[in-house]
Amino acid sequence: MSDHILAIDQGTTSSRAIVFDPRLQPVAVGQEEFAQHFPRSGWVEHDPADIWSTTAATCRAAIERAEVAHHHIAAIGITNQRETVVVWERASGRPVHRAIVWQDRRTSEFCQRLKAEGHEPMVTHKTGLLLDPYFSATKLAWILDQDDNRARARRGELVFGTIDTYLIWRLTGGAVHATDATNAARTMLYNIREGRWEDDLLQLLDIPAGMLPEVRDSAADFGHTRADLFGRPIPISGVAGDQQAATVGQACFQPGMMKSTYGTGCFALLNTGAEPVASENRLLTTIAYQLDGVPTYALEGSIFIAGAVVQWLRDGLKMIREAAETQALAEAADPMQAVYLVPAFTGLGAPYWDADCRGAIYGITRGTGPAELARAALESVGYQTRDLLEAMCRDWAGASDTVLRVDGGMTASDFAMQFLADILGAPVDRPKIPETTALGAAWLAGMKAGVYPGMDEFAANWALDRRFEPAMEPATRDAKYAGWKDAVRRTLSR
Ligand code: G3P
Repeated sequence: MSDHILAIDQGTTSSRAIVFDPRLQPVAVGQEEFAQHFPRSGWVEHDPADIWSTTAATCRAAIERAEVAHHHIAAIGITNQRETVVVWERASGRPVHRAIVWQDRRTSEFCQRLKAEGHEPMVTHKTGLLLDPYFSATKLAWILDQDDNRARARRGELVFGTIDTYLIWRLTGGAVHATDATNAARTMLYNIREGRWEDDLLQLLDIPAGMLPEVRDSAADFGHTRADLFGRPIPISGVAGDQQAATVGQACFQPGMMKSTYGTGCFALLNTGAEPVASENRLLTTIAYQLDGVPTYALEGSIFIAGAVVQWLRDGLKMIREAAETQALAEAADPMQAVYLVPAFTGLGAPYWDADCRGAIYGITRGTGPAELARAALESVGYQTRDLLEAMCRDWAGASDTVLRVDGGMTASDFAMQFLADILGAPVDRPKIPETTALGAAWLAGMKAGVYPGMDEFAANWALDRRFEPAMEPATRDAKYAGWKDAVRRTLSR
């Protein structure tokens, strides 16, 4: 019987595939890291061939480990690193350039110029985004500026896709060129209010409309995999960008519900319902998911460095051997030392959007050691989340009494989660299934394929592992947060 779902989670540093059983439990995982290319300072690229080969290999590994026959996989759900750009030849499938990754800042000056020309209000109104190199559009324009790519695109020889689109193309053997609304919403080319590619932006950036994928719902028919890949054709029936898939996996289906995922960076999404809320505090307006042609919107706060600060303690400073050691170190820190670490390694994202500032540490004394640095690193994640929550509350009244649902590797640290609840002054909920991103993609696909229950039953099955209640004195909380704001003010480049 076909009753299992395969979720592909193609992330920034690794490709993962997880098989979920009929009760939505993860039963087998395949995971492979792949090379990161940094051709110049601020540039980040992936080889699309690596993205594809690691995806195909991890799918096979997960299916094998699940010990289910291929015919037991009812459908595939795809979730992916967002904004990353691939351009390839329609006829051969050959990419014309390495994928330009969301972290890449090469179009920073171009974005500044567009801003100086006064285009940002139009961009924000139509796409919900800011004029920042983070999004796909200026990266795509950069690829079209190389060689004769623009002329070839105009002749219909080249096509564009975010990672979901590229994987769908490869999985279906070039039969389907499509994306879902959540991924389209991150390109800075998609009108999120009207649900269509935006002509004004295509003209501004000189991007031929014919190279763009068709936009579908997050639970929809995205074709079948090539028969030779997994033993028989399998339908692809769910697609969402990874942060949106986590929002779905956390069952944040009601307006006012919010999740925050702590991976390399941290991305908080607040469900705002059927209407897009325009941010006055430099948050993004985005599509949380689109079902039956109806988009549900979210406010998003994107922080570029969260778990990566712990990686830096491990790989950069060589202070720890494993991320898990940070917790014990942080607990041993001297409570009297007010050390602040602002992890602006690649600038700061929301709500500051300062691409040029760099990280800083404040308040160090002769007595400061690894313990105080570890605590400052974990605390920086809590402070940054509070920055986002404050901006959300100012933008939308429905945010003020929310309970934050958290997921991602860093949530394994009780210390970090308790500090988060303390500094927010609000409860933090950690779910039983930490694989929320893959779970969201699996549910979208499985629900469409008729294997999984509808939204209400799925939401009712969301299970709590632990709730962290705020325990810090309000005066201490205010003093600590004021210290953080001061540290950020001193770090900003302007
Ligand atoms: O917007 C970027 C985000 O989608 C990347 O997520 O988990 O691959 O670092 P991740």
